[in-house]
Amino acid sequence: MLKIVVAFSMIILMGCNKASQNELSLVSPDKNIKVEFNLSGEGEPFYQVWFNNKTVIDTSFLGFNLENAKSLKDNFKILNSSLNPFNETWQMPWGEQVNVVNNYNALKVELQEKMEPFRKLNIVFKVYNDGIGFRYEFPKQDNFSEALITEENTQFKLTEDYKTFWQAGDWDSYEHLYKTTKLSEINAFKERNKKLAKSYIPNNAVNTPVTMVGTNGVHLSFHEAALVDYSGMTLGINAKDLMLESVLVGSDNHKYKAKRDLPFNTPWRTIQIANTAPELITSKLILNLNEPNKIGDVSWFKPTKYTGIWWEMHVGKSTWDRASGRHGATTANTKHYIDFASKNNLKGVLVEGWNTGWRKEEGGFDFVTPYPDYDLKEVVRYGKEKGVDIIMHHETNSDVERYIQQQDTAFALMQSLGLHTVKTGYVGKIKPNGEYHHGQYMVNHYNNTVIKANKYQVAINAHEPIKDTGLRRTYPNTISREGLRGQEFNASWAVDGGNPPEHLPIVAFTRMLAGPIDFTPGIFHITEINGKSNYLNTTLGQQLALYVVIYSPIQMAGDLIENYEANPEPFQFIKDVGVDWQETKVLNGEVGDFVTIARKEKFTGNWFVGSITDENPRDIEINFNFLDDDQSYNAIIYKDGKDANWKDNQFAIAIEKSIITKGTKLAVHLAPGGGFAMSLKK
Ligand code: NOJ
Ligand code: CA
Repeated sequence: MLKIVVAFSMIILMGCNKASQNELSLVSPDKNIKVEFNLSGEGEPFYQVWFNNKTVIDTSFLGFNLENAKSLKDNFKILNSSLNPFNETWQMPWGEQVNVVNNYNALKVELQEKMEPFRKLNIVFKVYNDGIGFRYEFPKQDNFSEALITEENTQFKLTEDYKTFWQAGDWDSYEHLYKTTKLSEINAFKERNKKLAKSYIPNNAVNTPVTMVGTNGVHLSFHEAALVDYSGMTLGINAKDLMLESVLVGSDNHKYKAKRDLPFNTPWRTIQIANTAPELITSKLILNLNEPNKIGDVSWFKPTKYTGIWWEMHVGKSTWDRASGRHGATTANTKHYIDFASKNNLKGVLVEGWNTGWRKEEGGFDFVTPYPDYDLKEVVRYGKEKGVDIIMHHETNSDVERYIQQQDTAFALMQSLGLHTVKTGYVGKIKPNGEYHHGQYMVNHYNNTVIKANKYQVAINAHEPIKDTGLRRTYPNTISREGLRGQEFNASWAVDGGNPPEHLPIVAFTRMLAGPIDFTPGIFHITEINGKSNYLNTTLGQQLALYVVIYSPIQMAGDLIENYEANPEPFQFIKDVGVDWQETKVLNGEVGDFVTIARKEKFTGNWFVGSITDENPRDIEINFNFLDDDQSYNAIIYKDGKDANWKDNQFAIAIEKSIITKGTKLAVHLAPGGGFAMSLKK
C-alpha cells in the first residue's frame, strides 16, 4: 500500500513540475480546486490556490516570528514531499446529519533551513472538494525544542476586492455585529467604540469565520480547525494589497503569543470555497480536519429542547441574586418550569442564579452551594419524575483559576445527580490578569474543561467561549456555544436597539460555519417591565424558523412561560420541531440576505423547514423534491401574517395545514425581517 501511495504521488508531482524545480501541486478529488506550493529564490515557502481554473489565492507566504530566535520563514530547501489521497465516511453521534464524507488529497512538504540553525518545518495541505486546510508541523529535531511564537505570518492574498462579511477582530469577544463592506474598506477600529463592544481590539483585523462573495460568484470563508494548545487567529487586513495575514491573539504576560514544546502541529488554516452560498453551510471541511472521536460513546448526552430561568432575568422580571427580593432560581419557580417543559416536549430546564456568588460580597462563585431558597436535590428529583433534566449553570465571571479549582467537585455533583449538561459562562475580563478570552491560556482552559467534564459524563455549552473550530468531532461532549451576539442582545438591557434583521442571515454564512450555536430563539412577545422592553427585530415567523436554520443539538425555548401559554398555536411548532438530524439540505440562500434550510429528523423521518430573510421582503419557492417517494406528509406552515414586519408588526402570523408530497412546489412570501417554519410529519 505504501509503495502504491508513493508511486501515485511521484506521478502527480512530476506531472506538475513545470514552473520551478520546487513546485509541488495537488488537486481536490473533483479537480476543481488546485493548490501549488513553492519556495521563492530566498527559500521562502509560499502557496497559491485555483478554483475552476481561476486564481483565488495568489502568491501567499508562510512563516513565523520567534522570540529569541531567527524568524522561521526563509532559506528553506525541500527535503521531501509526499502525496496521500484519503476517503472515508464517518458518523456523527449527533449533528446536522449522520454520515459525513471525508475525502481529500494531502500533500506533506518537509522543509529544512539551508544554513544554521538548520531547523525543520513541515507544511501539510489537504484539498477537499469544498475547500482547503493547511497546517504547520514542527517535527522533533536537535537544537530546536521549544517554539516561542511572537507571530504567525500566514498570508491569504486575494485576487479581487471581495464583498466581505466581517466583524472586528477582538481578543476577548465575538459578540459584535457584522459589517458588509469591500475587503479594502474594512476598518475594525471604527467598530471599536460601539457601546457594547467594550473588549480589546488591537489591530485592523477581523474575527473568523470571515466570508467573502466575488463578482463572479466565488464564495470564500476563512477560519481555522482544531484550535488546540495555541492561540486563536484573527486576520489582519492589508487593504492596499487585498491581503489577509494571521494575527494571533496575545497576552500581556509575555512577548510570545503561543508557546509549544516540539514536536507539535498548529491548528489548520481553512478556506471554504464554493460556487454558491448554500454550499458553504453544507461544507464539512472544518469537522473533517479534526481528529476522530477520542472519548467514545456519548449516548449519555441526548440532543434536547429546553426552557429555563433565563429570559426573565434579561427582561428584569427576576434577578440572578437574592438581594432584589425577586430571586428567579427558587424551588417553586423551577418546578413551574419543569411542569411546563414536561407538558410541552422540552426535556431540559436551565436554571441560572442557583448558586452563591452573584453578589460581590458573597466572595466569588461557588459551583456546589445553592442559595437557600433553591433545593437542588428536590428540583432534580421532581424533574426526573417528569422526564425533565436540570441544565446546570456555571457562570465563572472569568475567574478562571477559581473555576478550575472547583471543577472536579462541581462536575462530580452533577454526576451524582444524573445531570449531563452545563452552560458555562465567562463574562468580564479574564483573571489571571493580562490573559484574553481567545489566547492560548484560555484555549487550553476551554479544551481542558471539555476533557475534564467528559470524565463525569458532562457536556459543555460555553458562553463567552473560544470560537468553535470543529473539536466536537474529537470531543462530542462539546455540544454548543455562544460566540456571537445571541438573543440576549435583544434583551431589555441592550442599549443599541437589538440585533438588526440582517444579523442572522449573515450569521448563517459566517459564525454558523464554525459550528453549533446556542442562540436561544423563540421570543414571542415584547415584554415590558418597569417601562423597559426587550427588542425583537424579526417576525414571529422568523423566530420559529430559527429552530431549523440555526443548528444546535440543544435549542432553547427562550421566552417566558406566559408568553408561550398565550400563543399556543405558534408554540406548537416548538413542541414539534426536531433537534437531531439525519440529513440537512440548504435549499437556497445568499450571504447576508436570506437562507432556507430543510432538516430530516433522526428516527422519525419527519422534515422541518425554516427560512429567514433580512430587512427585505422576498418571495421564494420551495420544491419538495427532497421528500421520500410515495409518502405524503401532514404539513403545517407558520408564515408571516398580513403586514407583518420586524419594526412594528412582529407577531402577525398565518398558520396553514396541507398535505405535501415529493415534488410539491410551494410559493411563500417572507415579510421584511420575516421567515417561515414548517413541519412535515409522515
Ligand atoms: C451571558 C450569557 O450569554 C447569558 O446567557 C447569561 O444569562 C449571562 N451571561 C449570565 O451568566
Ligand atoms: Ca453572552
